[in-house]
Amino acid sequence: MTDKLRAILTLGGALMVGAAAMQAQGGESPTERAIEYRRGMMEVFSWNLSTMGDVVKGEAPYDKAAFARHARDLAHATDLDLLKGFPEDSVNDESDAKDEIWLQWKEFAAKFRKLQEESAKLAKISAAGNLEKIKPQFKETAETCKACHKDYRK
Ligand code: HEC
Repeated sequence: MTDKLRAILTLGGALMVGAAAMQAQGGESPTERAIEYRRGMMEVFSWNLSTMGDVVKGEAPYDKAAFARHARDLAHATDLDLLKGFPEDSVNDESDAKDEIWLQWKEFAAKFRKLQEESAKLAKISAAGNLEKIKPQFKETAETCKACHKDYRK
């Protein structure tokens, strides 16, 4: 095989891989991608919250440093822009998002702000490492998830 032929074959292969990657992405609509994004964020919230929840409920031992890291990660995750994962009318049959989100956008955004505020407080208290002080703030934080789900999740 000549060098030139090899170069052409390599380029052809690269183009095909590129086209396949674009097709894989293009196969998903912007709505599907937004739903995946926001659900991915929810999973990050959920894992950190439920791991701390086990400790608060006494079902797992209290490890100060590990708990503080979960609280910090939750607070950091809420710094990401969840709202951009909810472009106007981004619902499909699979999504559990209610239409009210876009009809009451300000209220919806306020529920997210509340989560940001409470999880920042939780991170701060958790860093101090007193479980009895952490417990009420953990509850406040978990309530902000429920409050939004009650109104805006099916
Ligand atoms: C501002 C509103 C809001 C807040 C705050 C919120 N969520 Fe959600 N959550 C939603 C909506 C809306 C959905 C449905 C998304 C969809 O299916 O399109 C959802 C879905 C979920 C899901 C299901 C994800 C999936 O893969 O289907 C989990 C788990 C979840 N939330 C956990 C949490 C936890 C834990 C918190 C708090 C730390 C939280 N959420 C805070 C609005 C919120």
